[in-house]
Amino acid sequence: MRSISISAEREYSINFDRKWRDALVEISKSYEKILIVAPVELVTLLKIDNIAKSLDSQVQLVSTPSGEAAKSPDFLLEMWEVCGEFGLTRSDCIVGIGGGATTDLAGFVAATWLRGIAWHAIPTSLAGMVDAAIGGKTGINSEHGKNLIGSFHSPVSVTIDESFLQSLPARDFNAGMAEVIKAGFIADTVILDLANDGKKNISELIWRSIDVKAKIVSSDFKENRLREILNYGHTLGHAVEKLEGYKLRHGEAVSIGLVFAAELSNQLGKIASEIVVQHRELLQKYELPVSYKSGEFPKLLSLMSSDKKARGASLRFIGLEGVAKPIWLENVTNDQLASAYERISS
Ligand code: GLY
Repeated sequence: MRSISISAEREYSINFDRKWRDALVEISKSYEKILIVAPVELVTLLKIDNIAKSLDSQVQLVSTPSGEAAKSPDFLLEMWEVCGEFGLTRSDCIVGIGGGATTDLAGFVAATWLRGIAWHAIPTSLAGMVDAAIGGKTGINSEHGKNLIGSFHSPVSVTIDESFLQSLPARDFNAGMAEVIKAGFIADTVILDLANDGKKNISELIWRSIDVKAKIVSSDFKENRLREILNYGHTLGHAVEKLEGYKLRHGEAVSIGLVFAAELSNQLGKIASEIVVQHRELLQKYELPVSYKSGEFPKLLSLMSSDKKARGASLRFIGLEGVAKPIWLENVTNDQLASAYERISS
């Protein structure tokens, strides 16, 4: 079995080439009780309740609403109630099986219950495998923005079972590719070549994207500085997601944000326009959106201001000064932002 290790508050492994059921059986051997969290449609599709009955430990299964609806304060309260009723102790664990919303929620429940218990991630979406389920960021959404309530709490293990991708809808696969392409633009040009070559390279793309993230997280787990580069495309992306009421996939909103961040970098004289074109072409290859409604800039600006990367009164963005050369764009004016937005407006 291949693995990539991450060194955060402790060391843990991202395990490849392993069936999720085998991983679950293995996990269950180490705990008396496990709370499995999975979205309702996956519980049915994967027959998780049947598998749960065959495990060594005592299992409680929670079906969550689909997508971002699982990451609400109301649902979090329900989760804490389940933890209490099930009698989850510090020597028990939570397992999140699902996309990024599920593992974000499962990890946050684990981070907050009894001030932190163990959890394991089994991501089932491409976005979860290459980004959301790795790196130890856990959290839920607030009325004021995405992921504003959260904690750094690393999983004990992450299982990458690529067979989930066979049944992943094309739209979700493509949305995950936005995070893969992001990893390429911030750190690894080979990813861009492989992505340009099509989805047949997906195993290598997953490996390389996780490797990019693992190295960054291992050197700046709590996002004091370097880890911010993983937010390339996310400042506008999160604002678009919120404005759309989470109806777009995260990766679709990030795709718009990536083109915006590239346009902003170009406008500030940091990259050539060919690199912006490269962003558009690669993202469009995966049918991802590269523009957004004109006239929405004031609302997006207000939402971006509550983004976690805003420091004091000024907004800052991750930009590029070349392919695989991320930079911090500080003190960007509203006029500069409006002008970059104009270039991505449809
Ligand atoms: N998704 C960005 C990060 O994990 O830091």
